[in-house]
Amino acid sequence: MAKAHLRVHADENVAVVSDRLFGSFVEHMGRAVYTGIFEPGHPTADSRGFRGDVLELVRELGATVIRYPGGNFVSGFRWEDSVGPDRPVRLDVAWHSVETNVVGLHEFADWADTAGVEIMQAVNLGTRGIEDAAALLEYSNHPTGTALSDERRANGREKPFGITLWCLGNEMDGPWQIGHKTAVEYGRLAAETGRVMKWIDPSIELVAAGSSNADMPTFGSWERTVLELSADVIDHVSLHAYYEETGGDAASFLASGVGLDRYISAVAAIIDETLDAQGLDKTIGISVDEWNVWYQSRFNDVDKPPLFEGEWNEHPRIIEDEYSVTDAVVVGSLLMSLLRNADRVSMANLAQLVNVIAPIRSEPGGPAWRQTTFHPFALTAAAARGTVLRSTVESRAIDTPLYGPVDELDAVVVLNDAELVLLLVNRSLDEQLELDVDLAGCGALKVVSAVSVHAPAGGSRFSTNTESHPDAVVPVALEAVGLAGDTLALALPPLSWSIVRLAVAPEPAPAPAPAPAETTTTIDSEGAAA
Ligand code: AHR
Repeated sequence: MAKAHLRVHADENVAVVSDRLFGSFVEHMGRAVYTGIFEPGHPTADSRGFRGDVLELVRELGATVIRYPGGNFVSGFRWEDSVGPDRPVRLDVAWHSVETNVVGLHEFADWADTAGVEIMQAVNLGTRGIEDAAALLEYSNHPTGTALSDERRANGREKPFGITLWCLGNEMDGPWQIGHKTAVEYGRLAAETGRVMKWIDPSIELVAAGSSNADMPTFGSWERTVLELSADVIDHVSLHAYYEETGGDAASFLASGVGLDRYISAVAAIIDETLDAQGLDKTIGISVDEWNVWYQSRFNDVDKPPLFEGEWNEHPRIIEDEYSVTDAVVVGSLLMSLLRNADRVSMANLAQLVNVIAPIRSEPGGPAWRQTTFHPFALTAAAARGTVLRSTVESRAIDTPLYGPVDELDAVVVLNDAELVLLLVNRSLDEQLELDVDLAGCGALKVVSAVSVHAPAGGSRFSTNTESHPDAVVPVALEAVGLAGDTLALALPPLSWSIVRLAVAPEPAPAPAPAPAETTTTIDSEGAAA
């Protein structure tokens, strides 16, 4: 049996985990909104048409901030179509669909309030620019007394929406994007739009669009130019990252987290260079505002041609990827990469939330269920809060065509007042991994829980959850987890993602200060203390 060793460096903090690391994304695309979060007439729908079963799963998932309304969709979107009593039906050219605008900003904000999530709003810098971004911000955040803010009030929202996070366009480096731009064109537009937006509401945070993926021919030069032109205005730069298993190369796929680590480091280095060159005393975070497993090759080969040449329909089924055990392990390890880089990653959004490459699936008039990828996300979001600690791994190396040799064990450790949380991946396809964890310096600990996502009995790494078998893949308890002194010993199943939660003994209350030693003061014959 393969062996591995993990050492937790109890005194070495990497960074505090931001709540915004557990974001997700709802785009007006496919069935994310219509028959996803919104389906009037569904047996679980509330009076506003929001599906109760989906809402319940969103809460269980633990998503904190939701990017909206796109995505590619936003680059052709006219926001004013989606507010007020008149909702024109429009072509959505990005996804070859018909957009009814029945759900718009007000409806989405109501849903977000009910779900308890923060909105991350994108503006259209594809077909539009400064004027419309400024108008949307004024409509959303200005209290009262202007035509736009009063229009919002007349439309039912007395108080401003108070949206803090704003994305300056989407994937503007991609030739598929409506209004695709060069880095100079986009960098100038982002800077000028952002400047005006901050004059309207200085409390907002702006996200400039970075690269659509690390294989873009412009990756690196895009970030350099965009940052050069906008670093003084923006607060975050985005990074989008999708992974899939191609050509049977499971080893590289399972090492996707290594790819994401490197991608983040490369963008971080460009941010540092730019801030240094411009003498700017500020931080610019990395917003990984689209990340996931996405079988894009299937989309391009199978879905896209008929979909994009066919009729125009409302909310067609687009990229409803069904996720396997392997995909769940990769999603878990991508989230571990985000945590490991919590000192640079200011927020992150699993793309997307419902139906469209999503952890939650729903059928019109039917049930909603958890995909395999739901589980590592929900378990991490619920437990991995606090501070990421440095940890070191010793394990066998696995050769991967895409990333070279990578460790068989992947690990991240997070500490908070109540718990020490270990996130662990065994990248071996067929061997169990015997792991011992050196917890010296972490204080007195007690195992609270240890669960794992792996191939179910009688299943395989390709097992999925479906409408008829929604719980084929669920987290299962790890057996034989032993804590002796400072060493935790456990066995990680082949191809698995696991989470171990250890209760931290509360710091002993400080001992009461010793009573001052009784001293005898002698008064000498002259009245002085001797
Ligand atoms: O999430 C699906 C699509 O992927 C988004 O619309 C786009 O931004 C990205 O290419």
